[in-house]
Amino acid sequence: MSPIVLVLNGPNLNLLGTREPGVYGHETLADIADLCGQTAREEGLNVEFRQTNHEGELLDWIHGARQRCAAIVINPAAWTHTSVAIRDALVASELPVIEVHLSNVHTREAFRHHSFVSGIAQAVLCGFGSNGYRLALQHLSRQLKG
Ligand code: DQA
Repeated sequence: MSPIVLVLNGPNLNLLGTREPGVYGHETLADIADLCGQTAREEGLNVEFRQTNHEGELLDWIHGARQRCAAIVINPAAWTHTSVAIRDALVASELPVIEVHLSNVHTREAFRHHSFVSGIAQAVLCGFGSNGYRLALQHLSRQLKG
C-alpha cells in the first residue's frame, strides 16, 4: 500500500485565487489539491489534502496522523507565526514534517519572519508558489522509498 502523506492547510487558504493575488497568485486551493493529487499518482503516494479555518480541527487531524500516516506537509498559514500548539502537536506526531509557504515570508512583514514550526520541520519551502507542495511530495517520496 502507498504511504499516506497528509497535506494540511491553515486559515484563509480556502480564499486562494481571490485573496491578495499579487502575493499568492491566481491559483485556487482546488488547483493546488489537483497538483498534489497528480504528484501523488506520479510518485506512488496516497495524499490526503485538507484545509481548515479552525485551529482545534487542525490539531485533531495532526493527532490522528500519528499511527496512520507516513509524513505531514503543512502550510500553517497565519498560525505559523502564532501557534505553539501546532508545533507541539507536530512534534507529538513523531512524523517527518515539511513546512510550505506559497510566498517568500522573509521578503514580507517582520512578523512573518518567525515560524514556530520551522525549528521542528525537516525542511521548509517558501516562495515557490504551489510548486512548493509538489517539491515537498517529490522529496518525501524519495525519502520514504529509500
Ligand atoms: C502563507 C504565509 C503566511 O504568512 C500567511 O499568513 C498565509 C500564507 C503562505 O503560504 O505564503 O496565510 O503561509
